[in-house]
Amino acid sequence: MNSITINPALAVKGEISVPGDKSISHRSIMMGAIAKGVTTVTGFLRGEDNMSTMNAFRAMGVTIDDDGETIAIHGQGLHGLKEPADVIDCGNSGTTIRLMTGLLAGQSFFSVLTGDQYLRKRPMKRVVEPLGRMGARILGRNQGSLAPLAIQGGGLRGITYELPVASAQVKSAIMLAGLYADGETSVREPSLSRDHSERMFRLFGASLEVFNNGVTVKGGVELQAQEISVPGDISSAAFFLVAALITPGSELLIRNVGVNPTRTGVIEILRSMGGSIELLDEREISGEPVADLMVRSSRLKGVDIAGSVVPRAIDEFPVICVAAACAEGRTTVRDAHELRVKETDRIAAIAANLRRLGVQVDECEDGMDIMGVERLAGGEVESCGDHRIAMSLSVAALVAKGGITINDTDCVATSFPTFFPLLEKVAVR
Ligand code: S3P
Repeated sequence: MNSITINPALAVKGEISVPGDKSISHRSIMMGAIAKGVTTVTGFLRGEDNMSTMNAFRAMGVTIDDDGETIAIHGQGLHGLKEPADVIDCGNSGTTIRLMTGLLAGQSFFSVLTGDQYLRKRPMKRVVEPLGRMGARILGRNQGSLAPLAIQGGGLRGITYELPVASAQVKSAIMLAGLYADGETSVREPSLSRDHSERMFRLFGASLEVFNNGVTVKGGVELQAQEISVPGDISSAAFFLVAALITPGSELLIRNVGVNPTRTGVIEILRSMGGSIELLDEREISGEPVADLMVRSSRLKGVDIAGSVVPRAIDEFPVICVAAACAEGRTTVRDAHELRVKETDRIAAIAANLRRLGVQVDECEDGMDIMGVERLAGGEVESCGDHRIAMSLSVAALVAKGGITINDTDCVATSFPTFFPLLEKVAVR
């Protein structure tokens, strides 16, 4: 298991771009594979999670070329996928396993999905249950709630489903199954989660209607191949936003970042803490809003975070909590129970690691209270096998009293293989 030590920095400066959006990259492969014609994708994120999705479709007979610049997916049409000869390994990727469960529920063949030790602990009932209502036969460990999942697809009927918690993965799984169902499939969520599937369905020519916190998809409509340009991932940019905000004397330009309103909760929260973040040259690419982000170091203050902003910032809480640890006063996080079922229990992982750095953190079931400190202590911390915990703690190290050693950092490759060299590039020593 690899460890890495990050030393304090004098400032964070320069101009960077971050790798492509993970959620959009997954969806581009999935939609391209079941469309008619060749879909091309530039800006694709070649992280381990997205490679899991790519390998899954190759295992179902889809040719996918990669010349290092452009990915070309030779779409097979709605009914052209082939039964995989072996179990499909989704690695660490929740998006791969949950969206694929929906897609495979629509196929008239048998398939099995599994993943690594972390993924096999994550809740799958949330997709298995609605897909079962649509007529899919899905078996899994612990009464269908844990992977491996065995799927005998086909014969689906449309349903109307209310999600108990906002989740883009569950919504997207039902939407993908809806492409194969008889009639219409509607999903509504308590508050809006990321809407990349809705945007991409529209781009590929699916028949869908978006309404207040919900979407209706019509089954049996063939999709057409597209040319997709994937913007930089705001979830990856978030580490650099916080790095520049908390390190005095910083000024950083992050080019070409996706700023879809269902993902910009992190910008809203950091701004409410007093962070200086400007959106420059706002534009739209492949149906997604994009901008350059200018961030300057700022004196941050504690805030209360709860409600509908939570799903719009769900992956950024580890690094938002680092910002809170460096802010003046108390930050409270509530309505964030979902953090307990991410790559690891992120509430427990953030609390344990920030405490090691001298921060007072009080956990509750759906969040935590963090008391900001003048200066973080250095020391040794644990990623818990979670890429976003590892990267957030690396950002904390820039302003700690001494170096911070982060243990178990290989997980960073799941979403951001170039993170450490990029951090060193902008850190002024
Ligand atoms: C994702 C949805 C979110 C997010 C994950 C990516 C997606 O998960 O945390 O990293 O691409 O749909 P949930 O749907 O479980 O909230």
